[in-house]
Amino acid sequence: MSFKPANNIQDLQYFGEFGGVNPSISDSSTYTFLSAKTMFDTFEGNAEGCYLYSRHSSPSNLYLGEALAAMEGTETANVSASGMGAITPVLMQLCGAGNHIVSSRTIYGGTYAFLKNFLPRFKIDTSFVDITKLEVVEAAITKNTKVLYCESVSNPLLEVADISALSKIAKKHNLKLVVDNTFSPLSISPAILGADVVIHSLTKFINGSSDTVGGVVCGTQEFINQLRNVNDGACMLLGSTMDSLRAASVLKNLRTLHIRMKQHSKNALFLAQKFESDGLKTVYPGLKSHPSHKLFKSMMHPDYGFGGMLTIDVGSSEKANELMELMQNKNLGYLAVSLGFYKTLFSSPGSSTSSEIPKEELEKIGLTDGLIRFSIGLDDDIERTYQMMHQCMIQLNILCK
Ligand SMILES: Cc1ncc(COP(=O)(O)O)c(C=O)c1O
Repeated sequence: MSFKPANNIQDLQYFGEFGGVNPSISDSSTYTFLSAKTMFDTFEGNAEGCYLYSRHSSPSNLYLGEALAAMEGTETANVSASGMGAITPVLMQLCGAGNHIVSSRTIYGGTYAFLKNFLPRFKIDTSFVDITKLEVVEAAITKNTKVLYCESVSNPLLEVADISALSKIAKKHNLKLVVDNTFSPLSISPAILGADVVIHSLTKFINGSSDTVGGVVCGTQEFINQLRNVNDGACMLLGSTMDSLRAASVLKNLRTLHIRMKQHSKNALFLAQKFESDGLKTVYPGLKSHPSHKLFKSMMHPDYGFGGMLTIDVGSSEKANELMELMQNKNLGYLAVSLGFYKTLFSSPGSSTSSEIPKEELEKIGLTDGLIRFSIGLDDDIERTYQMMHQCMIQLNILCK
């Protein structure tokens, strides 16, 4: 694949307003016009380079959006105040009353709750399917379906979506393929594989310092213009705008994403291999035992690896909680949701990030009580980390001596 997402970020060049190497931060909510006519034209969306009001767009937000569009290979992008602030307007822009969505059944709990509990109020229904079974996906499509929705690597089960194949199905039925790529930035480029819209929660790997929430929608200029339209654009009207100061700080963190992803992936692969050979039930797309290992390999930019997320199953929620508490006491990471931090984060999805999903559904999709989701950190000495984690598991009789 000739598309190089990290080169695209590296190749961005800025000459700030005062010659600074970083663009100046736009610290205004509103903008003056020298003529009333230009203000009118800007409202109509016809005044290139003019800013109206920062809920619509701001220079700092545009800089970050353009950098993320370069990374994903889309025409442009719109940043938002959170990942959910990117997902919800996209779905509401693409669907209206009477429309239908086909979604992967293993997705982030907040997205699941939005599709399952919130959108039906607007008469938008969703069928949840096993996204790895293409015939099941296609069979769920009805004449009212508008969107096919999935995560490239799903939260928390780490199922992998065949984006090229899903894109073919979407095109055949005239649907938009919307892909949340939060778990695999740089490793997978969904738009290059045929996705129409790519979303990220910037909160995670892209920002990488667990100090803010943020989101982005990457897509065509036409679609982003629709989202920003002052009359009927879901981003403009629902109002989950990112603050300019944050856009500037996320842009600075984006520049080290390639180095961080390599280290997250290297450490996660090392631990996954060790855990698996210790006999733990381990899920990581980089393991040959992962059902979609070959598919991931066929889609990935190999330099960035299989990502920083892995799961193990320790049998029961009691054991999972004991292990997480012990690992935190030994300073191996934090018992916390979210991902992409420099330290390892671990949580038990059934009682945290996926708790919006009903219990019967959790069982059906294989999300067990003993599952621990790890976002592996940037540890320089991962062998030392492994030895200490191994000791914790022996101490709790999860592993035998
Ligand atoms: C895959 C995925 N998408 C979207 C979100 C929502 O992002 P945010 O918390 O930034 O709104 C999350 C959050 O955990 C996530 O894991």
